[in-house]
Amino acid sequence: MDIKRSVVKEIKVKSFQERGISLFIKRDDLIDSEISGNKWRKLKYNIELCNSKKKEGILTFGGAFSNHLVATAAACKNSKLKSIGMVRGEELNPESNSTLKRCVELGMELVFISREEYALRNDKALHETIGADYPSFQIVNEGGANYYGMIGCQEIMTEIEEEIDHIFVAQGTTTTSCGILFGLEDHQKIHVVPVLKGFDSLAEMSELFWKTGIDKETVSDLMERVNVYPEAHFGGYAKFTPELIDFIRSFYVEHGIQLDPVYTGKAMFELMRQLESPSFDNSRVLFIHTGGLQGIPGIEKQLGQKLFQ
Ligand SMILES: Cc1ncc(COP(=O)(O)O)c(C=O)c1O
Repeated sequence: MDIKRSVVKEIKVKSFQERGISLFIKRDDLIDSEISGNKWRKLKYNIELCNSKKKEGILTFGGAFSNHLVATAAACKNSKLKSIGMVRGEELNPESNSTLKRCVELGMELVFISREEYALRNDKALHETIGADYPSFQIVNEGGANYYGMIGCQEIMTEIEEEIDHIFVAQGTTTTSCGILFGLEDHQKIHVVPVLKGFDSLAEMSELFWKTGIDKETVSDLMERVNVYPEAHFGGYAKFTPELIDFIRSFYVEHGIQLDPVYTGKAMFELMRQLESPSFDNSRVLFIHTGGLQGIPGIEKQLGQKLFQ
């Protein structure tokens, strides 16, 4: 699966320009409508691994509205591989929402499991049991959160030709931010916006690095370059407020770029708030658009109206 290089565009905000701030956006959302944003990055090497181990397909995990499940289903279909999605919630079915319907259309087999069993999704023992049931499938963690996902995300920074001081990105499993952090130049800082309430970003990022075999001293040096905004979650995962929806709509009107209320909307909202600080004067800032737009029909159903006109 080749990475399609995505474009970097400048976003013009007059009040920032007056303070010497240049703001850029890396449009990974344009890579593909379904294997969009960070999904493409995280799946690239997982698909390669699956092929090199001559596995029949990928088995992975996700919630009812998971961007990762749709992306995995689409990437496997493109690569002529099978896919199985273990879905959180035994009360759900393939007709429950547009995300799950799309997974099935793309050929994914869905297995609905209880919340209790799903809580063990990263457990080695569960992977061994599943591995025994599905020996010809490569198991990939929820959200593509593994070494292969991380090195795919590291490639984002290799495509940036602009001089950049600060990078802002939304955070779920931390795979994308860890990959970006690993690819930073010495003077660059990463600013992460976790979308889960009560999420310990530094601990989660450190753990992902340790799992890949990076020593503790190097990991603690890497953590020095991370700024976390732990209060920017708007109530928690998949929660949103009228203020966030208004922001996403006005951002679209001003800049013609769609953001989603689960990840990128929250991250861009926080970026705009942080950039008010004089500490960003005369700096060059990059926002990574990690996609997530496939989930918008589900959000519009909740809102009872269209998000973008
Ligand atoms: C659109 C979008 N942005 C950001 C993220 C967060 O990425 P990560 O889980 O790698 O931290 C996700 C989740 O994977 C996502 O779907």
